[in-house]
Amino acid sequence: MELCIIGSGYVGLVSGACFAEVGHHVVCVDNDKRKVEMLQAGKIPIYEPGLEDLVHRNVAAKRLRFTNSIEDGVDHSQVIFIAVPTPPQVDGSVDLTYIEQVAREIAGVLKKDAYRVVVDKSTVPVKTGEKVEATIKRYNRDADFDVVSNPEFLREGCAVPDLMNPDRIVIGSASNKATDLMKRLYEPFKAPILVTDINSAELIKHAANSFLSLKISYINAVASICEASGADVEMVADGIGMDKRIGRNFLNSGIGYGGSCFPKDVKAFISIARQLGTPFALLEEVERINAHQLNRFIDKIRDALWVLKDKKVAVWGMTFKPDTDDVRNSVAIDLINRLVSDGAHVTAYDPKGAEKAVDWKLVDPAKVRITKSPLEAVEGAEALILATEWKEFVNVDLAQVKAKMHTPLVFDGRNLFNPETMRELGFTYFSMGRPTVKP
Ligand code: UDX
Repeated sequence: MELCIIGSGYVGLVSGACFAEVGHHVVCVDNDKRKVEMLQAGKIPIYEPGLEDLVHRNVAAKRLRFTNSIEDGVDHSQVIFIAVPTPPQVDGSVDLTYIEQVAREIAGVLKKDAYRVVVDKSTVPVKTGEKVEATIKRYNRDADFDVVSNPEFLREGCAVPDLMNPDRIVIGSASNKATDLMKRLYEPFKAPILVTDINSAELIKHAANSFLSLKISYINAVASICEASGADVEMVADGIGMDKRIGRNFLNSGIGYGGSCFPKDVKAFISIARQLGTPFALLEEVERINAHQLNRFIDKIRDALWVLKDKKVAVWGMTFKPDTDDVRNSVAIDLINRLVSDGAHVTAYDPKGAEKAVDWKLVDPAKVRITKSPLEAVEGAEALILATEWKEFVNVDLAQVKAKMHTPLVFDGRNLFNPETMRELGFTYFSMGRPTVKP
């Protein structure tokens, strides 16, 4: 099938490459000229495992191309995906300016006798589909089209496998013709398809991400109780997670969830619920617990080091999760900046994220020394703080780490290491929701 995707960010670019991989012809549209030129030159603006190969292979096979022109995309496509950003506003509600603008632009190029399905893939508040449809109709009375909601559930760091093997595909549609076309489009993915009305599909996305955030905050609250009582949150999570109704996934305690989805989507869902006159106080508590996690972690560091001013601390990890170079809303970055404002001398290492953290001015390189290896970061350090659980850190020789450090103190914000091993190696080891161990 012929399709176009408007917006070549995470969702748009990875979706485009995966649709091409299963045999469709895809035009990715973006209004950022530099980004399109980069992509046309074979350069991928984000780090996502497997994406570069996928893009190169499908561009070479002439199933994937990039353009600035919405008209070019829409002309060549039966299905038009909208995958533009929906950033948060100051009050937590969603800024739909880009969606509205794209809807108008699509309206401007839709032709009378050429039926098109306009699919919203961006995360949007319930009832946005109705507004997109009304907008297109308002700007082009003759257009022959249907609007569909098809939320995307990919995770950064494993976006390609998530897209190629999704748990489910949600199609929110009020038209059989559009639903049939969408089913054909997704047929090669061999995944379960759930067809709903448009409003329900839109709600599914916010409800799913808020529920996962709730699961994380739940285990983080349990972690506090574990710390106060001497229990071990990993064991508790294993024990409750073995119940199939609960499940072990997303019960990993840490310094809190970050990234470009959970914080924004929880806020948006709170705002949507409030606007609909059905306040969702439970989600406000989810946010409160999440913010509290970093405070609790920093308190542990302050308790152990007492005054942070002029202390040399190493931080491993800057991205909001492993296997990505994305540092947006990363708790690790907040942590680094809090340490800096307390006067600590921070050396930081991240396998992929340091460049963006500096380029986007999220950390000040004059105040944070970025190193090229995890071992270089711990040289002379009075504490090592683990903020993101990259696999690379598991393979570092911890005996060497200890030898390089000034004092063998480790604060593990992601429970990556085994407390017993750390004790045997001679570290004083603090983690989340587990008893502190000393040599
Ligand atoms: C999330 C959703 O998982 C995905 O379905 C949606 O499409 C986009 O938002 P993403 O933000 O890429 O994906 O990453 P995810 O793996 O969900 O992690 C989000 C945050 O939660 C990270 O900061 C991670 O460290 C944290 N997290 C995750 C925990 O603290 N504990 C867990 O058990 C799981």
